[in-house]
Amino acid sequence: MSSSKNIVWHETTITRKDRNSLNNHNSCVLWFTGLSGSGKSTLANAVEVKLHESQVRTYVLDGDNIRHGLNKDLGFSEDDRKENIRRIGEVSKLFTDSGQIVLTAFISPFREDRNSVRELFSNHEFIEVYVKCPLEVCETRDPKGLYDKARKGEIPEFTGISSPYEPPEQPELIIESNKMTIEQSVEQVINYLKEKSIVK
Ligand code: ADX
Repeated sequence: MSSSKNIVWHETTITRKDRNSLNNHNSCVLWFTGLSGSGKSTLANAVEVKLHESQVRTYVLDGDNIRHGLNKDLGFSEDDRKENIRRIGEVSKLFTDSGQIVLTAFISPFREDRNSVRELFSNHEFIEVYVKCPLEVCETRDPKGLYDKARKGEIPEFTGISSPYEPPEQPELIIESNKMTIEQSVEQVINYLKEKSIVK
């Protein structure tokens, strides 16, 4: 598929290392995955607030938002979800290279697609955060009324109802969003970043 013949990578003088040392923290991607309504966006947002307060440079990439712009040509077929995640993986890599901590909130239901993104990064840079929440709870929350529509057959290929979700096998973190407060969940993520010396 690659059409990168005759194209040579151009090294920049200022490197990621330089940006990291200017920022006084390392960069990485926190890849939040889970069912719709599991709390990915809420958690990514709350973690970002906490990091921002500590002078850490961050950016949130959120499925619902990115699908209004960069990925507005994509739907929810298996191929489109694959392409959605592939593009976000590449964008996350650029953000990480720019020295930021990027927080992505995409259902990213397929293991293979998440693992392909993982392969773009070196060790410890890709942090898979499984936002674990039973389908029944997500369905009860139903913040956008989409589960209701999916059950009525009004939305085809809806994750958890008519399209599969493959839970991560070895995520770096599991956040059980129905068992913990948002503050506890945020703390779990921040502690991980500190343990790995990504932030101070
Ligand atoms: S992903 O599967 O390709 O990773 P993504 O995170 O970008 O999905 O978008 C999911 C959001 O799109 C959901 O939170 C929901 O609001 C909306 N949505 C619309 N149709 C579907 C569908 N068929 N399956 C899942 N989510 C859908």
